[in-house]
Amino acid sequence: MIGAATRRGLLALAIPGCATAQPGMVTPPAAPGGGLHARAAAKGLAFGAATSTRQMAEPDLMAAFLADCGLLVAEYEMKWAELEPQPGNRRTRRADQLFDFARRNGMAVRGHTLLWHESEPRWLSDLSARGTAAAMAQHVDATVLCWRGQVTTWDVVNEAVAPEDGRPDFLRRTWLLNRIGPDYLPQAFHIARAADPNARLAYNDFGCEHATAWSRRRRLGVLGLLRGLRQAGAPVQVLGMQAHLQAGQPFEASEWRAFLADVAALGLTIEVTELDVNCRALPAAAGPRDAAAADLVRRFLDATLEEPAVRAVVTWGLTDRHSWIREGRLPEHRRRDTARARPLPYDDAMRRKPIWAAIAAALDAAPPRG
Ligand code: XIL
Repeated sequence: MIGAATRRGLLALAIPGCATAQPGMVTPPAAPGGGLHARAAAKGLAFGAATSTRQMAEPDLMAAFLADCGLLVAEYEMKWAELEPQPGNRRTRRADQLFDFARRNGMAVRGHTLLWHESEPRWLSDLSARGTAAAMAQHVDATVLCWRGQVTTWDVVNEAVAPEDGRPDFLRRTWLLNRIGPDYLPQAFHIARAADPNARLAYNDFGCEHATAWSRRRRLGVLGLLRGLRQAGAPVQVLGMQAHLQAGQPFEASEWRAFLADVAALGLTIEVTELDVNCRALPAAAGPRDAAAADLVRRFLDATLEEPAVRAVVTWGLTDRHSWIREGRLPEHRRRDTARARPLPYDDAMRRKPIWAAIAAALDAAPPRG
């Protein structure tokens, strides 16, 4: 199938769950040496990407997804506000479409994410402390049960650390924290564990990767949270590191490795969960920008994959065509010029970029997992 796909031009790939090919859509030629998941799997690792039901309508993107990914993550379809826009009124149609696609194509699914302050449904603010705790328990239980046995790793809690919020434990002052207290964290893990005894349970966070004072404080917060969860007997097994890398910020392999070793010493495995590169600080010209972004990815992954506890790498999308960085929601994602962000392994025309080659090379160089 891939051989036929090397021709530029119209392609009628039979991708289940996808619209048929449209004029002008091109599928990348097969990569010499194999796709990213095949390279990862050869080392006992998994490789995947976030995608969405909207993206499933783009056959050239889905062809690349099939060629490179063994792991699928829903970009938004499994978040609480999406699943339960009205209390008790759950809708899983979009998420189910992604599960169907993954199942038909032999891919695993990461569950993202049960609790995240940015995807709390609005109606939560009408509830008392007791009502909030009940709603959280109900949501975690129902969501994990719904896809029991179908999710390899659940991000149970996302981004609960915010040193800038001023608490001595560095926890973020979210609605759940304010209503329930820090106990909402172990509670969520226990409920998820009871609902699916076989899914791996993760704490997922961002902003730990760089050699900056800001990242160092975040790492302290994350380690503190993980230790607290362990002491409370909470079944946390995985640390998800988003790895939204910032070109232009320092990255020190030894410092990062020491942090990963501290996490591994707690008995946790580690997954890179949302890799991309914000190249706002780089010059506009695509050539040098792509080269600098790929260099950062290579240095980051080389250091990361040296740690045996690391088991998976996931990028936050596959193509620059669809990236949250282009959405420009965060001020730090907006460039001062008119150049468009280029954070991911494929460009807008689904050509492989230097970031793709950097990931491939890092996977090829990674020590095999036992
Ligand atoms: C983002 C999606 O990419 C956007 O499309 C959506 O508008 C907001 O969420 N950290 C996370 C992800 O854990 O869930 C976020 O995804 C990006 C930052």
